[in-house]
Amino acid sequence: MNYDIKDITLAPKGRLRIEWAEQLMPVLRLIRERFEKEKPLEGIRISACLHVTTETAVLMQTLKAGGADVVVCASNPLSTQDDASASLVEHHQIPVFAIKGEDNDTYYSHIRSALEHKPMITMDDGADLVCTIHSEKQDLIPNIIGGTEETTTGVIRLRSMEANNVLMFPLIAVNDANTKHFFDNRYGTGQSTVDGIIRATNVLFAGLVVVVCGYGWCGRGVAMRARGLGANVIVTETDPLRALEAAMDGYRVMQIKEAASIGDIFVTLTGDIHVIREEHFQVMKNGAIVCNSGHFNVEIDISALERMCIKKRRIREYVDEYTLKDGRKINLLGEGRLINLSAAEGHPASVMDMSFANQALCVEFLAKNADSLSKKVYSVPKEIDENVAKLKLESMGIKIDELTDEQKNYLSEWTMGT
Ligand code: ADE
Repeated sequence: MNYDIKDITLAPKGRLRIEWAEQLMPVLRLIRERFEKEKPLEGIRISACLHVTTETAVLMQTLKAGGADVVVCASNPLSTQDDASASLVEHHQIPVFAIKGEDNDTYYSHIRSALEHKPMITMDDGADLVCTIHSEKQDLIPNIIGGTEETTTGVIRLRSMEANNVLMFPLIAVNDANTKHFFDNRYGTGQSTVDGIIRATNVLFAGLVVVVCGYGWCGRGVAMRARGLGANVIVTETDPLRALEAAMDGYRVMQIKEAASIGDIFVTLTGDIHVIREEHFQVMKNGAIVCNSGHFNVEIDISALERMCIKKRRIREYVDEYTLKDGRKINLLGEGRLINLSAAEGHPASVMDMSFANQALCVEFLAKNADSLSKKVYSVPKEIDENVAKLKLESMGIKIDELTDEQKNYLSEWTMGT
C-alpha cells in the first residue's frame, strides 16, 4: 500500500483518539451500521482531500464500511493530525498522504498521489482536489460520477467554475446544508478558533478587544464565543446586511482601518484576500495578536509583515513574533493558516458528526444517482438535511412536537383570519 505519513508508530495514540471521536459521532455511527449491511458504495473509488483529523478518520471508516475504496490527502498543510493518519494506515488499511507542516510542493504532490487512485467520487474541503483535476488531470474526468464540497470557500470556487462553464462533473455543496453551516461553521468554528488562539498563546480573553473580520456563519460564532469569555468584540464587514446584524447583535461595527489601532486580537474569517495588510500593521498596538480562521492563508498579508519587520522569531510553538522598525511587536499565529486546525484540533467531534453525516449520505446519493446528474453545483437534498437533524436530535434525547391535524389544516387554509 502506497502512503506518505509522518510516523507509523503514532498509530496506537491515533487509534485511541479516533475511538474517542467516534463515541461523540452517533449519527455517523448509525450511518456506518446501515452502510455495513447495505454496502451502497461497493466498488466505488473515492479520493478525499480533507483535514486529516480523528473525525475525518471516522468518516473514512464509514465510507469503507459502505464498500468504498478510499484514499485521503490533506486539505491544508498544517491541519493534519499525524497520529490519526498513522492509525488509518495501520489499523484500517486506508492510504493517507498528509504530514503536518508539509511545504506547498509536498501538499500538491499529496493531492496528485490521491488522484492516482482514479476516483469515481471526489470529496473536497476547499476544492483543491477538484481544481487540480480540472487543471492537470482531465483524463480522470470521464470516470468521475461527481463530488462533494465541505466548505464555504470551496463552494465559492465551484460556483465560479460553474458560472464560467468550466465545471466538468456534478458537485454537491455540503457546506450549504442547514445541518452543516448553522452548526459546524457557527458553533464549531466559534469554539475551535477561540480554542486555537488560547492553546497558541494562553492569553486571557476577558477585557481584551477582539476584532472579528467577517460576520458570516464562522464570524458570528467567533464573535459570540469571544464575547462569552469577556472580550470586547468589534466586527468589521463589507456587507451592509451582515454589518447591520452585527450591530444589532450588540457588537461595535467599524472599518478595519479604525479597528486596527484598537484591537488586541484580530481574527479573519472572510474568505477573501489581504483583509489585514500593511496599512493596518502600521497602526497596530505593540503586542497585537493576528490570526486567521478562514480556509486559505491569504487573508493576512504575511509578505507585508515580512517586509516591514527587522526581526522575526518563533516565541512559542504557533506564535511568530515580528519586530517592526519602530520596536512594536506583532504576533502572527499559525503562519496565518486556520488557527483552529493548526494550533488546536479543529471542530469538536459532535459537530463534525452532522457535517460528515451529510458527506456520507451525499456520497451515497451520488452513487445512486450517477446517471441523472449534470455538470452543476447541487444543494444537499432536503431529505438528507432533515434526516441528519432528526437523527442528531434523537441522539441528544430531544423530542419535538408534531403538528395536530387541525394545525396542519390551519397552515394550508387561507380563509381563516382572526
Ligand atoms: N474542519 C474543521 N474541523 C474539522 C475536524 N475536526 N475534522 C475535519 N475537518 C474539520
